[in-house]
Amino acid sequence: RQNERESLLIVLNFAKTFFQETLLNTDEGKGIGLSYFRERGFTNPTIDAFELGYTLDQWSALLQEGQRRGYSTELLEKAGLILTKEGTDGGKQKMFDRFRGRVMFPIHNVSGRVIAFGARILKVDKTQPKYLNSPETTVYHKSQVLYGIFQAKQAIRQEDVCYLTEGYTDVISLHQAGIKNVVASSGTSLTTEQIRLIARFTPNVTILYDGDAAGIKAALRGLDMVLEEGLNLKLLLLPDGEDPDSYVHKLGAEAFKSYINEHSQDFIDFKASRWLTEAGDNPLKRAEGISDVCASITKIPDLLKRQTLSQRVAQVFHVSEQSVISEINRLLRKQQ
Ligand code: CTP
Ligand code: MN
Ligand code: MN
Ligand code: MN
Ligand code: MN
Repeated sequence: RQNERESLLIVLNFAKTFFQETLLNTDEGKGIGLSYFRERGFTNPTIDAFELGYTLDQWSALLQEGQRRGYSTELLEKAGLILTKEGTDGGKQKMFDRFRGRVMFPIHNVSGRVIAFGARILKVDKTQPKYLNSPETTVYHKSQVLYGIFQAKQAIRQEDVCYLTEGYTDVISLHQAGIKNVVASSGTSLTTEQIRLIARFTPNVTILYDGDAAGIKAALRGLDMVLEEGLNLKLLLLPDGEDPDSYVHKLGAEAFKSYINEHSQDFIDFKASRWLTEAGDNPLKRAEGISDVCASITKIPDLLKRQTLSQRVAQVFHVSEQSVISEINRLLRKQQ
C-alpha cells in the first residue's frame, strides 16, 4: 500500500514535469498555454511557484512519454492520468490521455507533492466542462484537499489568518499580489476535513467567495461548518460578477488589501445585515433573522464564546440579551 502510494506520487511528479516542459518548451505550449497565462497576468515566478503546465491537444502525448520512461499503463491509469475504453474493433482496449489541450494546475498536498491536477480549457463553451479534475485515487481525496495549502501554509501561520476562496486562479492571483495566506476549496462545498486542515495553521478563517448567487449560498453553507470546528470566522462577498482573481487585477494589490480589511464582516454582522435589509420593519422577519443567527451560534462548541456573541446579537437586532439566550437554548434543546 505504502509502495503504491509512493509509485503514484512518482508518476504524478513525472506528469507535472512533463506538463511544465510542454508549456515552456513546445511551440503549442508557448503559443497557446503560456499566452493564456500571460493574458491572465501570471508572471514567470508565479507559473513556477504553482508549477503550472500545459497538455498538448493530442490523444496520447503523456501516455507515450510515460511508457517510454517505463511507467506501466496500469500505474498511469491508477494515477488518473489516462483513460481506457473498450475498442469496438475486436474488443481491444484503447488508451488515451485524460487531459488534452488544457492549461494544467497541479494540486499539491501539504508537503508539496503533486497528488492530482485541475485542468482548464482555454475557451469556455457549452460542450465541455471548464475545469476537468483528476478522479479520486489512492493519493487524492478531493474532500481532504485545499488547493494552495503548500504554497500558503507558512504565510497562514505568519498572518494568523487563512483566506478561503473558491478557485485555483483566485489563489494564484492573490499570491502574486503578495497575499499568500490563501487557499481554495476548488468549487466543492467546504468539508470538515478541509476546515481541520486550516486549523492546523490558524484558528482564523476569512471566507472570500465569488459575489454571485452560488458564492453566497456556498458561504452560508460553509459558515456553520467553520463555527462547528471552533474557528473564528469572517466573511466578505465580492461585488456581483467579481471573484478575488478578477478583483485584485481590477484594484491592484494595495487597494484590494484595504478592501478586504474594510469589508470583511464577522459572521453575525454578515448574517444580520442581510436579514435586516430584507426585514425592514417586519417584526416576524426580524424574529426569523434572530433565530437564524442564533442557529449559527449554537454550532459554536465554546460556551463562553456563545455567551459573548449573544450580547452582540442583542445589540445588532435591538432586543434583550435574555431573549437571545432563550432562543439559543430553545434551539439547543431541539437539537438534542
Ligand atoms: N470548478 C470545477 N469544475 C468546473 C467549474 C469549476 O472543478 N466545471 C472548480 C474549480 O476549482 C474552480 C472553482 O470551482 O477554480 C471555482 O469555479 P469558477 O468560479 O467558475 O472558476 P474560476 O476559478 O473563477 O476560474 P476562471 O477564472 O478560470 O474562469
Ligand atoms: Mn487513501
Ligand atoms: Mn464561481
Ligand atoms: Mn475567475
Ligand atoms: Mn470564480
